[in-house]
Amino acid sequence: MPGIVPEDIERYIEQHTTSETDHLAAVAGETREQMSSAGMMTGHVEGRLLETLVYTTGATQVLEFGSFTGYSALSMASALPPGGKVVTLEVDPERAQIARRHFGESRYGDRIELRLGPALESVADLPGPFDLIFIDADKQSYPLYYEAALERLADRGLIVVDNTLWSGRVVDEREPDPDESTLAMRRFNDRVARDERVTCVMLSVRDGVTLIRRR
Ligand SMILES: C[S@@+](CC[C@H](N)C(=O)[O-])C[C@H]1O[C@@H](n2cnc3c(N)ncnc32)[C@H](O)[C@@H]1O
Repeated sequence: MPGIVPEDIERYIEQHTTSETDHLAAVAGETREQMSSAGMMTGHVEGRLLETLVYTTGATQVLEFGSFTGYSALSMASALPPGGKVVTLEVDPERAQIARRHFGESRYGDRIELRLGPALESVADLPGPFDLIFIDADKQSYPLYYEAALERLADRGLIVVDNTLWSGRVVDEREPDPDESTLAMRRFNDRVARDERVTCVMLSVRDGVTLIRRR
C-alpha cells in the first residue's frame, strides 16, 4: 500500500514512536511473511495511536470492525483497565483462526472476544454502549458500520475510522479514474464531514485515520 507520508518521514515517525512489544512485533512479522494482504494491518504507529486513545479516553468497552490477524485488537486490549473488553468482528475463518491464536498467546488475550461472521450480522447482537469503536473492515460497508457505531456509541465515546485517505486516491486530482472502493471512501468522507450529528478530525497517520465524536 503506497503511503501518504514520504518514506523518510514515515521512518522518522516510527523511530520516534514507542517500539512495539515483542509479541506485537512477532504478530506483525508473521503477518508480513505469511499473508499476501499484510498491508491491511494497522501496525506499529497506528497501533500505538489506538492504544493511546483507549488509554487516555479511559475506554472499557471497545468494538472493532475487521480483526485480520489481531494486531489492532491486541494494541487496544493492552490499554484497557481490568474488566475492560474488546469485541472484534471478522468474516474470514482463516484470519479469525490466526487472530485467535495470537490472542491466546498474549497476556491480554482474555480481554478480547472475536465474533466470526459478517460484521453487520454480528453487531446486531451487540447493543453497546461502546466507548471506542474502530472501523476497519470492507470499505463499501463503511456507511453502514458508521450508523451502527453511532447507535452504539457511549456518551463522550469515540469512533475511529481507518484508511480514510485511501493511499491519497480520495483526492480527485490524484485519481481521475477512481474505482468503486475509492468512490465509496470519497462518499463516506464527504458524508461524515457534512454530518451535523458529529465533530470529526482527519489525521494523516498511515493511510488516514478519522476521529469522530457526537456533538
Ligand atoms: C483492513 S483489515 C483489518 C486490519 C486489522 N484491524 C489490523 O489492524 O490488523 C480488514 C478485515 O476486515 C475483514 N472483513 C471484510 N469484510 C468483512 C465483513 N463483512 N464482516 C467482518 N469482517 C470483514 C477482512 O477479512 C479483513 O480481515
